[in-house]
Amino acid sequence: MWIDCKTIARSIEERTKERVEKLGFTPKLVSVACTDDPSALSYLKSQRKKAEKLGIAFEIMNVSPEEIVSTLKKLGSDESVNGVFVARPFPLGLDEKEILSSVPVEKDVEGVNPVNLGLLLYDEEIFPPCTAEAAVRILERETNLSGKRVTVVGRSVTVGKPLALMLLKKGRDATVTVCHSRTVNLEEITKNSDIVVVAVGRAHFLKKNMVKEGAIVIDVGINYVDGKLQGDVDPSVEEIARVTPVPGGVGQVTTALLFEHVVRAAERQRK
Ligand SMILES: NC(=O)c1ccc[n+]([C@@H]2O[C@H](COP(=O)([O-])OP(=O)(O)OC[C@H]3O[C@@H](n4cnc5c(N)ncnc54)[C@H](OP(=O)(O)O)[C@@H]3O)[C@@H](O)[C@H]2O)c1
Repeated sequence: MWIDCKTIARSIEERTKERVEKLGFTPKLVSVACTDDPSALSYLKSQRKKAEKLGIAFEIMNVSPEEIVSTLKKLGSDESVNGVFVARPFPLGLDEKEILSSVPVEKDVEGVNPVNLGLLLYDEEIFPPCTAEAAVRILERETNLSGKRVTVVGRSVTVGKPLALMLLKKGRDATVTVCHSRTVNLEEITKNSDIVVVAVGRAHFLKKNMVKEGAIVIDVGINYVDGKLQGDVDPSVEEIARVTPVPGGVGQVTTALLFEHVVRAAERQRK
């Protein structure tokens, strides 16, 4: 069965819209870009569309590689800006950690600054990474996570690792296993899991024989194969498990959460 992520995204957007109206001013998101990567550009385009729909002001700042860090730092003190996003991938040779550390902590709506990531260790989700949060929101709609065996395949800083921490959070109480390219017997681990989250970046990586019947599967993958968008989960998995679709799954919840975070940032700054 396919999991209906559209409804989840829509309800997040409706609440965001209501919160925008209550703010009494128009919150603003600035996306800093130094890339010509087609999927990054398409994400910026969809941000513009979504911002318009939600009543949020939006600006793209195209900068040179030399300007990224200083631009991000300046945006920290610009009172007209509530949220700051920086588009990835970065040009080769740039220090990703330095760039992400320069995203102002209180405007870090994508949850990429090491300060916001570090707070996850303390179970504090002020600005958690949007994709990891999207996986959690979807799972919480589908099941009670307490005591569930969850396997996260992928250990990236943006998805796998923060997601593992969020699932472990007191109150959520999942039992989490994190797998990666050096994991031995991956199939045995995923097959014994109530929930599998796949963030690997390989089209149709998770096959039906790797999943327990009745499991919940979250497909984070975005892979373009012959110009067609495909997830990390083989479509046949849907015959035995509840699976998030690609497209129309985690991605749209992620974007909805980005804008929820813009409003959260605006509310916190107003205080
Ligand atoms: N929907 C969204 O909003 C969203 C957001 C972000 C990313 N994504 C997509 O999610 C996917 C993952 O993104 P990412 O940034 O987390 O990727 P990443 O940084 O490339 O990490 C991929 C992870 O997969 C692991 N891996 C690779 N081959 C494997 C194998 N054969 N068995 C087990 N693990 C394996 C890697 O292990 P090692 O660490 O050992 O190399 C790594 O930890 C991509 O398709 C990306 O486009 C989607």
